[in-house]
Amino acid sequence: MTPTIGVFDSGFGGLTVLRALIQRLPAARFAFLGDSARLPYGSKSRRTIARYAAESARFLVEEQGADYLVIACNTASALALDAIQEAVSVPVIGVIEPGAEAARRASKTGDVLVIATDATVQSHAYAAACQARGLRALEKACPLLVPLVEEGWTSHDVTAQVFRIYFGELMADAASQGLTPDTLVLGCTHYPLLKPLIEQAIPASMTAIDSAESAADKLVQQLSQDLGALPATSADSQANPSAEPVLHCFATDSVEKFERLGSRFLGRPVGQVQLVDLGG
Ligand code: DGL
Repeated sequence: MTPTIGVFDSGFGGLTVLRALIQRLPAARFAFLGDSARLPYGSKSRRTIARYAAESARFLVEEQGADYLVIACNTASALALDAIQEAVSVPVIGVIEPGAEAARRASKTGDVLVIATDATVQSHAYAAACQARGLRALEKACPLLVPLVEEGWTSHDVTAQVFRIYFGELMADAASQGLTPDTLVLGCTHYPLLKPLIEQAIPASMTAIDSAESAADKLVQQLSQDLGALPATSADSQANPSAEPVLHCFATDSVEKFERLGSRFLGRPVGQVQLVDLGG
């Protein structure tokens, strides 16, 4: 059986998570939904985020036949995982726990910084997941970064300057609390697209991590538990380079922009993106 993996984000930053999934499961079927009409989720209330995320999850499961759901959106994972699990009857994997797990593996000092949207920071989902692993986490909202990435300004001076200001404030807070952070969690789908810029701005001794890789590992683990065998692994695809994922992308707005920037974020053509209407 080749399962269909539904991947959901509020925009197209979540294509970084899809990219990690495709690397591991190159012959699987994927349906990606970017709820771009209602982006950003990160400045909205829990109730609204839960409603939007549940509607998006139902679209992927009921209309696209997803057997598994990966919630690439950190904000939806932090505030609406329960609502999504209630809305659909397939296994749902969020990115917060895998992100905290990656931080645990990376950090030697046990002190971790997390940058994310306002809503994710206010939920303290990352702090809780880090604390459960014996880490101290200091979180900061960086709301200006998402629109800069959506604009495609991933290596622009303005973006570098904005990041430096946020990071400087966060490091000052960390110092005033006596923390010695050595790990920076990129707790938002869009931030991995800024990784080269971020790595230039942070100390060389600090590791920037995103949850895409760990979330992909978690799905692979779940698939092997459930199915016994995986649809295809990267090793298979090296033996058979023609193995191509079946990929359908959907967006609730900005289809042209998705097609233009999406291929860059995914590292392969996104193909034709279909417009869907999930209501207001
Ligand atoms: N996808 C969101 C996240 O990962 C960022 C964009 C938004 O605010 O909707 O938190």
